[in-house]
Amino acid sequence: MKKIILTGDRPTGRLHVGHYVGSLRRRVELQDSGEYDRILIMVADAQALTDNADNPQKIRDNIIEVALDYLSCGLDPARSTLFVQSQIPELCELSFYYMNLVTVSRLQRNPTVKNEIQMRNFETSIPVGFFTYPISQAADITAFRATTVPVGEDQKPMLEQTKEIVRKFNAVYGETLVEPEILLPQNDACLRLPGIDGKAKMSKSLGNCIYLSESEADVRTKVMNMYTDPDHIRLTDPGKIEGNTVFTYLDAFCTDEKLHALLPEYETLEELKAHYRRGGLGDVKVKKLLNAVLQDTLALIRARRAEYQKDIPYVYEVLKKGSEAARAIAAETLADVRRAMRIDYFDDAELIASQSKKYAG
Ligand code: TRP
Repeated sequence: MKKIILTGDRPTGRLHVGHYVGSLRRRVELQDSGEYDRILIMVADAQALTDNADNPQKIRDNIIEVALDYLSCGLDPARSTLFVQSQIPELCELSFYYMNLVTVSRLQRNPTVKNEIQMRNFETSIPVGFFTYPISQAADITAFRATTVPVGEDQKPMLEQTKEIVRKFNAVYGETLVEPEILLPQNDACLRLPGIDGKAKMSKSLGNCIYLSESEADVRTKVMNMYTDPDHIRLTDPGKIEGNTVFTYLDAFCTDEKLHALLPEYETLEELKAHYRRGGLGDVKVKKLLNAVLQDTLALIRARRAEYQKDIPYVYEVLKKGSEAARAIAAETLADVRRAMRIDYFDDAELIASQSKKYAG
């Protein structure tokens, strides 16, 4: 079986370092590994509209931002297909058929949907499109016969729901769809990178993000203001690592080699942590280290972005070409689905022959 990656992001804003360690960095590694037959990266604008129906301009404006972030991180259009969800109408048709295989109560139990309904204060006025987006996400994944879906932990329930739809479809209509596997980030820090205020998750509405496209000076200011251990007041005080945002970021961004290159007195991150725990290591020194590590990663991304920003029509062209290629694949899957569901009436010569025979008398 071919190895195919499909993943994507909602274009509701620029992407931040949480997206980077949670998924973007991995996608580029997977692309560069050469182990995959196809890599598809989707700007999920139709999904973003499920809870932004009254703000289409926001989604429209952020398509290019997300595409620029993709390219700046090193996704290469020659090796990865970058495309826009709404340009693939086949996805709607697949969703429509999958809807018959999912119950309302099953959707109500989807933890991600439950959580997002709460976060958005929808209460009883939940848009139907939003409520059913796990089904549309199953269409996204299966349309491209994805075997591997690299996403954050919050997407686990989506993958579960997709697998259920695939099993149900294949059981009812015959083996047609491919069951995907989730690919989660390598460590806990990458799984759930907190905001700079130490709050649970980086989110635009909380204003606690570091964006990939942020200037060097702004990144430095944010790092220097990061939440650490509030009880670590004097340099000699013992410090806590758990819940200390600066160390969580170091876990996500700093390898032992990088640390040793920047602070030769330490061999490993564990040694640095032990020193902090003992006391005698100040927050400013650790923050300066983190700033250096982050700037190192972001400098390359920033430089690439500056180049792509000079040729915006090219970026739109990449998305257009990618969408055409993606659409051709989705159309093949849809044809298989229609055949399996016995709704391919006009392509089935046998159907016409057998119905003729029935009335031949
Ligand atoms: N739900 C994902 C998010 O919010 C975006 C998304 C839409 C997606 N369709 C997908 C991710 C298919 C992986 C596969 O980030």
